[in-house]
Amino acid sequence: MTVLTSVLDPNGPEHRANREAMLARLAELDGEHAKALAGGGEKYVARHRKRGKLLARERIELLLDPDTPFLELSPLAAWGSEYTVGASLVTGIGVVEGVECLITANDPTVRGGASNPWSLRKALRANDIALANRLPCISLVESGGADLPSQKEIFIPGGAIFRDLTRLSAAGIPTVAVVFGNSTAGGAYIPGMSDHVIMVKERAKVFLGGPPLVKMATGEESDDESLGGAEMHARVSGLADHFAVDEQDALRQARRVVARLNHRKAYGDPGAAEPPKYDAEELLGIVPGDLKSPFDPREVIARIVDASDFDEFKPLYGTSLTTGWATLHGYPVGVLANARGVLFSEESQKAAQFIQLANQRDIPLLFLHNTTGYMVGKEYEQGGIIKHGAMMINAVSNSKVPHLSVLMGASYGAGHYGMCGRAYDPRFLFAWPSAKSAVMGPQQLAGVLSIVARQSAAAKGQPYDEEADAALRAMVEQQIESESLPMFLSGRLYDDGVIDPRDTRTVLGLCLSAIHTAPFEGARGGFGVFRM
Ligand code: COA
Repeated sequence: MTVLTSVLDPNGPEHRANREAMLARLAELDGEHAKALAGGGEKYVARHRKRGKLLARERIELLLDPDTPFLELSPLAAWGSEYTVGASLVTGIGVVEGVECLITANDPTVRGGASNPWSLRKALRANDIALANRLPCISLVESGGADLPSQKEIFIPGGAIFRDLTRLSAAGIPTVAVVFGNSTAGGAYIPGMSDHVIMVKERAKVFLGGPPLVKMATGEESDDESLGGAEMHARVSGLADHFAVDEQDALRQARRVVARLNHRKAYGDPGAAEPPKYDAEELLGIVPGDLKSPFDPREVIARIVDASDFDEFKPLYGTSLTTGWATLHGYPVGVLANARGVLFSEESQKAAQFIQLANQRDIPLLFLHNTTGYMVGKEYEQGGIIKHGAMMINAVSNSKVPHLSVLMGASYGAGHYGMCGRAYDPRFLFAWPSAKSAVMGPQQLAGVLSIVARQSAAAKGQPYDEEADAALRAMVEQQIESESLPMFLSGRLYDDGVIDPRDTRTVLGLCLSAIHTAPFEGARGGFGVFRM
């Protein structure tokens, strides 16, 4: 039998304390998600409704097949910045007429739906997901275009939005734009570059320059409708393929467009899968509140993979990294999970071998992070920890099977890289509220700074101010701690969202399904030089 056994005691004091800490973090997370849902706030929502318009998420809901999930991505974008949480854009994956699509919707209640630097990053991330997974892209447009005060941050990189649309189209990935309101200036190229365009009567405004600009430029008198109304574009310019009488009609027509795309998944549905043997609720009590004590990732794996069935690879070797094979919602996965925080040479070599095996077998990889990084110290340096870590990073970098990453606990230093951190292009990366990610732990980082400052003072023959050192350490520790937290990192788009641990299996299942829309093949060779 390869069904994982569990030694978790859900009634024990440790489990209960961990659970309490996780629930407190989840409550905090709910509060931040609520900000994204609130959009521009009551005043702007009321004004929007008074105009007879649907909110961004209502539009998405009507677009999707009834009773199907929507995997919202990056809902905390712009968290911790001067912009509204959510970055005036909703993105995610949902099913339209049975087809998994990447959907983006401007939130016109937030500064007229204008795009700020975080909206741009969120939109570009959505495009990357659509391209990598061959998901048709549906844009629900109503935006004041560039957020003008921050134009210097977005004007030049923002051109990538339109480039991406046509590259998606060139790759045979359908693009659909539904225009509900303002889509002017640069924004006009969203419908302009899309394969299919639907515009809402008397609402869509699609022009390069509005009446005031036209008056300034040429002296011509004009109005919104004649310059860029749905009727004009449907009957005269030909930019609109479909004329919708209202928002509901536009969404109905968008569904019909998707129904006729003939977009096929590369892989069939694997069918029903047996759920894990253990309760997902118990995932709340596994990660310790302070991340200092280790936890057995098999307890997590047992609660996310099908039937808790896991064939471990090299269980006796490099034991601080657990590797093995499972299925998740019917999809085969190779799992790499940190067991005791530190990665040694053995773990690194085991990982490199395991990643190559997954590539030979065309099996996607799931990385479950809880690492403080690669081991330091004379013994380990002499034992070749750099070259062994490099092997693992080489394998991750050049692996061609899709990767999924979940930050459960620590994800520090080069360990974040070796475990397929953001820069290593996992198809999706999510964090639990318990996660922390930085170049190293806050105390270690503050300590290193202090030692360096002390040595520098000694070299100059200057006395060292111990009081100032203590204050600096405390300040640095606090700063690094806050910058390591998932909400901060999610705000900067370093993950695709912070999720409730109990939802991990569902979220990964949705991602795996999306991933299996595009064909993939593991790397049979083509790795860099493995330094032996
Ligand atoms: N950049 C920054 N802020 C913007 C903005 C933009 N592009 N567009 C709108 N806003 C702000 C407004 O200043 C306003 O702020 P306030 O409520 O604090 O005064 C808020 O968003 C709502 O705008 P408002 O004009 O009241 O909303 P509306 O729904 O009636 O109209 C637009 C929305 C988008 C049609 C209108 O604001 C507009 O034409 N904006 C400029 C569009 C443009 O030319 N963009 C440049 C494209 S590159």
